[in-house]
Amino acid sequence: MTLLLSSSAAASCTTSAGGWDAACLRKLYSADIGTWPRPQGLDREVWREMAPVSALTPPAIDPARVALGERLFFDPRLSRSNLLACISCHRPAHGFADTQPVSAGHDGRLGKRNAPTILGAAHAAALFWDGRAASLEEQALGPISHPDEMAMPLDELPAKLAALSGYAEAFAQAFPAGAGQSGSAVTLNNIASALADYQRTLLPPETRFDRFLRGQHDALDDRELLGLHLFRTKARCMACHEGPLLSDNRFHNLGLTWYGRSYEDLGRYGITREAADVGRFRTPALRQVAHTGPWMHNGRFPVLSGVLNMYNAGMPRPRPANDAEAGDPLFPVTSELLQPLELTPAELEALEAFLRVL
Ligand code: HEC
Ligand code: HEC
Repeated sequence: MTLLLSSSAAASCTTSAGGWDAACLRKLYSADIGTWPRPQGLDREVWREMAPVSALTPPAIDPARVALGERLFFDPRLSRSNLLACISCHRPAHGFADTQPVSAGHDGRLGKRNAPTILGAAHAAALFWDGRAASLEEQALGPISHPDEMAMPLDELPAKLAALSGYAEAFAQAFPAGAGQSGSAVTLNNIASALADYQRTLLPPETRFDRFLRGQHDALDDRELLGLHLFRTKARCMACHEGPLLSDNRFHNLGLTWYGRSYEDLGRYGITREAADVGRFRTPALRQVAHTGPWMHNGRFPVLSGVLNMYNAGMPRPRPANDAEAGDPLFPVTSELLQPLELTPAELEALEAFLRVL
């Protein structure tokens, strides 16, 4: 049977029956990446193309610092109770993210945000869901001293570590000229620096998506390939999820502020105090995303298909319920980049299959 394709259908790889022509998509994406369909829904001229993880600049590695940082990252004695390590919330087997919606810290106290993956965090322009830390060094001591996380008084930490077997030597080796006032190399700066250097080595593992991007055009099956096409085009995901890690490093309001309710979180506004930032959160990287659930800043999406259904509906777009809300300059406004997508059930499945190979 000959498939009758109008010329525009041929260009967009749809069939006359309204489905997708797999052979056409395969051909389109077997060509050089520079010829792939331009992402749809962009609000800017300059955007970053998808790229394999290997395109990220590798860190300058000091093996002694990385080894020390790894030891610190896994060691619960950095916490006041000796029970919580960085890995308690950033679980290596789950893409270095937490499996709980919000993490239980010191004494089981719950924070209000989901612990994200730290794979590739060194390549984020700013850290945390609201971008409040500029570097891994700046970030590192936060969770150690935070009362809801490891609750360790920072002024007691260097002496505590120095007294534990092996640490004084390991710090002296990693920081030969790094002694603090006490003459010991076990200082808060060096703790932060070793943790940061270890985290710099944590990149997402290479996947079939990377192999596809590097030209192995049978690395994705037909459904995953359709998902890739939808991600760029009809589903408009690349308007925000771009580049090797699939984040534009910007902040957007997806309508998930829980405004006026007990879970309210105004995101970036809490840092900048600018009304335009109400409800904005940093676009997360999507590498390993199938392993980092539950999803979103508050971990309130337990299944990936639920996230996709919400995008398909155009995300929540809250309207003021009364005059007080209508007059509130801080009433959250959902990004105009989000629109109802009209993806069919088969297209949603393809998009999810694509997310699962990232
Ligand atoms: C009790 C749970 C918990 C512990 C323990 C913990 N974290 Fe986190 N971590 C979180 C949460 C929750 C966030 C997100 C907070 C936010 O964005 O406001 C986070 C965010 C981060 C980020 C930012 C990632 C990004 O892409 O924005 C880094 C880096 C990080 N943690 C490193 C560490 C290190 C290093 C340690 C150990 C010293 C540690 N964490 C211990 C829960 C934890
Ligand atoms: C307007 C920018 C924008 C667009 C368009 C967009 N995203 Fe997102 N995405 C974000 C932001 C911002 C978050 C975090 C929001 C939050 O937690 O409140 C996010 C979160 C996610 C998450 C959860 C990740 C995690 O670690 O919790 C997934 C999965 C996701 N997006 C997939 C997609 C897919 C698939 C599409 C296309 C259908 C898409 N996104 C379109 C900005 C965007």
